[in-house]
Amino acid sequence: MFPEGTGPAPDPAGSHFERRIRSFQPRRSRVTSGQADALKRLWPTWGLDIDGQRTLDLADLFGSDCPVVLEIGFGMGEATAQMAAADPGTGILAVDVHTPGQGNLLNLADRNGLSNIRVANGDAIILLREMLPPACLDGLRVYFPDPWPKKRHHKRRLIQPEFLTLAATRLKPGALIHCATDWEPYAEQMLEVLTAHPDFENTQEDGGYAPRPAFRPLTRFEGQGLDKGHVVHDLLFRRTETTKSAGSGGTDRPEGQAGPAKSAGPNPPPRAL
Ligand SMILES: C[S@@+](CC[C@H](N)C(=O)[O-])C[C@H]1O[C@@H](n2cnc3c(N)ncnc32)[C@H](O)[C@@H]1O
Repeated sequence: MFPEGTGPAPDPAGSHFERRIRSFQPRRSRVTSGQADALKRLWPTWGLDIDGQRTLDLADLFGSDCPVVLEIGFGMGEATAQMAAADPGTGILAVDVHTPGQGNLLNLADRNGLSNIRVANGDAIILLREMLPPACLDGLRVYFPDPWPKKRHHKRRLIQPEFLTLAATRLKPGALIHCATDWEPYAEQMLEVLTAHPDFENTQEDGGYAPRPAFRPLTRFEGQGLDKGHVVHDLLFRRTETTKSAGSGGTDRPEGQAGPAKSAGPNPPPRAL
């Protein structure tokens, strides 16, 4: 659709990286002329393809000393743009495979003068695994991930132990992972796998869901869920000081510099990631 280098590539990682079970379904949605125009104008500056072939330097992308939060699955990007406007000192690396949403978010960023958003095109797993260095992220947001309600599709759900193990290696110690969903069984699964994971601890002393933090705007999918009478759950967990899960092997910390053990004491209140 776009000449090479001038817009998001249709399948940026190609078949180079085997991606077993994907958490998204390729959608053939129409790109409006406004979105296409934004992609042509703004992609070369603010967009990046997840080709899995290089390591990103977040200081290069956002400027040194800028905390960076990864948002996986921004959809049409309205909530992303609101969060970027409310917190201009934080960079948002926003990833999705959805071309109309990428165009929409670029348009919103452009119209509102938001220079703290970068739009990544492709599979967030490849981004995390192949392109982000250890302990580079100050936060991770996953808002209303596809719920995959059918039992035979549960394996496609993003929030699984293996995903958390990978994410933990890319998050800085103490960084927050913030998930939200309106799909009750998925909320229960998220709470279960996050609670069981050795690299995360709940910010809630009662070990349950978190009250919705003021920094999370209403998202498009959330609105649709609320219209159907769904109850929304937020989950706010903090990455522990060291990673303990198998395979992550302390990649985020030089040898011999183990941090304190997972705290059993009360947690400080979460701030916006
Ligand atoms: C249900 S939508 C929610 C969108 C938005 N967060 C909201 O609440 O309106 C989930 C989004 O996640 C994206 N997605 C799912 N898995 C992904 C992955 N592995 N990498 C990038 N995007 C993904 C989908 O393309 C979709 O746009």
